Amino acid sequence: MEFYKSKIKGTGMYVPEKVLTNADLEKMVDTNDEWIYTRTGIRERHICSTEGGEWPTDMALKASVQALEAANLEPNDIDMILFASVTPDAKLPNSACILQVKLGITNNCAALDIAAACSGFVYGVNLANSMIQTGAAKNVLVVGSEMLSREVNWEDRSICILFGDGCGVAVVGRNEDSDQSEILSSTLGADGTGAEFFDQPVGGAVEPITPEHIEKRTHMMQMKGGEMFKMATRTLANNAKKVIKEAELTLKDVDWLVPHQANVRIIETTGKLLGIDSEKVIINIDKYGNTSAATVPIAFHEAIHDGRIKRGDLVLFDAFGAGLTSGATLLRY
Ligand code: ACO
Repeated sequence: MEFYKSKIKGTGMYVPEKVLTNADLEKMVDTNDEWIYTRTGIRERHICSTEGGEWPTDMALKASVQALEAANLEPNDIDMILFASVTPDAKLPNSACILQVKLGITNNCAALDIAAACSGFVYGVNLANSMIQTGAAKNVLVVGSEMLSREVNWEDRSICILFGDGCGVAVVGRNEDSDQSEILSSTLGADGTGAEFFDQPVGGAVEPITPEHIEKRTHMMQMKGGEMFKMATRTLANNAKKVIKEAELTLKDVDWLVPHQANVRIIETTGKLLGIDSEKVIINIDKYGNTSAATVPIAFHEAIHDGRIKRGDLVLFDAFGAGLTSGATLLRY
């Protein structure tokens, strides 16, 4: 069987216009800018309009148009959409199908949603890579798009300060050029025994939302922050080492670590555990908070556009999330 190389051909991003600062949050719950910034690294986050125009698939449309342009591709060149989100537009149809229509894709390409929380985009990239390597797909649009503001209890200061809305997209495609760009190694994993550390049990088939849930706000996301913190650093470091070893490279070879942005202290601790210099770690949580599946593609896109990440650089994606899910990708951009 022929084996194809895959690479990231183009990226895009979109964040909502409305900005919610820590000072704004001080007026909503008993918190303050100093606590939020020192404990999380967050200064502000973007929040989707509830009037329309910024639903997860709208943000994905804007980011996908950019990514397609950067990849020099037309919408109908896409033969698969992987849409990572825990806040899809609707339960049915899936957001990948809605995006297919919004992009004007008429080739009946495959369209699949991925519910892997904050690891969703990395799951998408790694699945796209496998599809491309085997020849099952040629150009896959991988989306991470979230409207977490809908699922956050804005009266709970322990959680509402952490999250934001936004979208990042990458086109992963077959490398038909003779350049060195390539996805080199990848890993995906999960530990379902940690589900209780971050969950949202109400609203599924087992326990539908009732007026009582709405009154008590028990249908929102709930998190045990301290437990997540411990699991996160361990998992991120282990996965990073695994993909490096598989590619027969060393951590010193890494030009850029693009980690999931959940808390700046998690990111810094992971960087230290791996011995990666802090200036090689992409951090933008101060501007966007935790946008779940969108953090890695937004951070990656921004660093490409401000000139830090260049073609040929060795880049490491590293993510973890509710589930608990995790994944890492090592690529030559
Ligand atoms: N403002 C002011 N005080 C607060 C706030 C707030 N917003 N929230 C909590 N506090 C108080 C607490 O009540 C507590 O007070 P007490 O000591 O009087 O009881 C004190 O601050 C310390 O609270 P902790 O929860 O121990 O604070 P911690 O340093 O652990 O930080 C945080 C909490 C920021 C949530 C941290 O645990 C964290 O970031 N964890 C990881 C989160 C994470 O991984 N998220 C991603 C999950 S996966 C995904 O991305 C979908």
